[in-house]
Amino acid sequence: MTGQFKSKVALITGGNSGIGQAIALAFAKEGAKVVIAARRVSEGKETVAMIEEKGGEAHFVPTDVSKAAEVKAMVAACITEYGGLDYAVNNAGIGGTAATLAADYEEEVWDEVMDINLKGMWLCMKSLLSG
Ligand SMILES: NC(=O)c1ccc[n+]([C@@H]2O[C@H](COP(=O)([O-])OP(=O)(O)OC[C@H]3O[C@@H](n4cnc5c(N)ncnc54)[C@H](OP(=O)(O)O)[C@@H]3O)[C@@H](O)[C@H]2O)c1
Repeated sequence: MTGQFKSKVALITGGNSGIGQAIALAFAKEGAKVVIAARRVSEGKETVAMIEEKGGEAHFVPTDVSKAAEVKAMVAACITEYGGLDYAVNNAGIGGTAATLAADYEEEVWDEVMDINLKGMWLCMKSLLSG
């Protein structure tokens, strides 16, 4: 641990499991204050506890990145909780169901993947840049 992110604030969407959780733990290990945003509250709180147990600082904001109002609230929470934001990892996403051809997707699966993976990424970047 080098403390290279000491005094920095890092937001990780989808930080309550998988790759995003590993990124959140890695930022915290390097001294960053970490904001975790995702839908599942218990997994979010568990990840905060994992960070705090190791002496780090973290805050969970329940967020669905496909909802504009929730994304705005997520960015606002970074400022309220830690006074700003230095890094954002827009990791939240879903795989949808496996299909060999795009044409084989059910329409509702296609819409959900586009809402979260594409629109969600855009909403996050839009709010991060414009507040
Ligand atoms: N693992 C791979 O091989 C692979 C390959 C290509 C791309 N990816 C992408 O890499 C990212 C991480 O993958 P992973 O393997 O770590 O998957 P994962 O364990 O399923 O994690 C996905 C994360 O995204 C969050 N998430 C999903 N929908 C969300 C929404 N609408 N709003 C907010 N958060 C949402 C999930 O939390 P909640 O469900 O609690 O919201 C979860 O924390 C994803 O974007 C995934 O699509 C992964």
